[in-house]
Amino acid sequence: MEKIIYILILIMLENSNFYKDVNTIYSPTTYDFVVNKNNKLTSDYVPSDLELIDNKYAYEDKYLRHEAKVAFEKMASDAKRDGFNIIAVSTYRSYDYQDKLYSGYVKDKGFYYADMASARKGHSEHQTGLAVDVSNNTLDYDNFEDTKEFTWMINNSYKYGFILRYPKAKFHITGFKYEPWHYRYVGVEVAKYIHDNDITLEEYKLNT
Ligand code: DAL
Ligand code: ZN
Repeated sequence: MEKIIYILILIMLENSNFYKDVNTIYSPTTYDFVVNKNNKLTSDYVPSDLELIDNKYAYEDKYLRHEAKVAFEKMASDAKRDGFNIIAVSTYRSYDYQDKLYSGYVKDKGFYYADMASARKGHSEHQTGLAVDVSNNTLDYDNFEDTKEFTWMINNSYKYGFILRYPKAKFHITGFKYEPWHYRYVGVEVAKYIHDNDITLEEYKLNT
């Protein structure tokens, strides 16, 4: 079954508009701008307000933009109070670091898998400083979906302004396979709208 899904995804990738007609974002002014396979950041874009996350809630030194960092710490602290451990394992990533990650995927898993799982340089939300990959304290984000922390995030993250950015079965819209661990800060109002309407950021931007 998985093989069939993989083949269907390959066909979709071949026939899609992904990485064609790409827009460049020079200086984002809102928290809900789209960075995806058709919207990229420049090689020199580094958010000016990156701040270190409290190390109680992060694996090693991890940075998010000020507003996202404050929201993340509040979310992780409230979760902790209720017995859930939300740890940031990947947050801001530079253009060059993303390039290395993507190239690593191509080398290890092949071009098509790389394009399903990893963004090319300039196309990763991680460069925005508004995206965070989370895990519980096992730090095993590959199995995050099976944890009680995942359920907590699904039920609560939007209240703090974060959305599950790559939901299941939305590949044709987001361009990426399901990532239960990847959340994007968009602000509380937008996150609530996206959550309540069960849509992606792409669909939200098309309809507002
Ligand atoms: N894994 C996500 C799509 C990224 O590389 O930004
Ligand atoms: Zn991510």
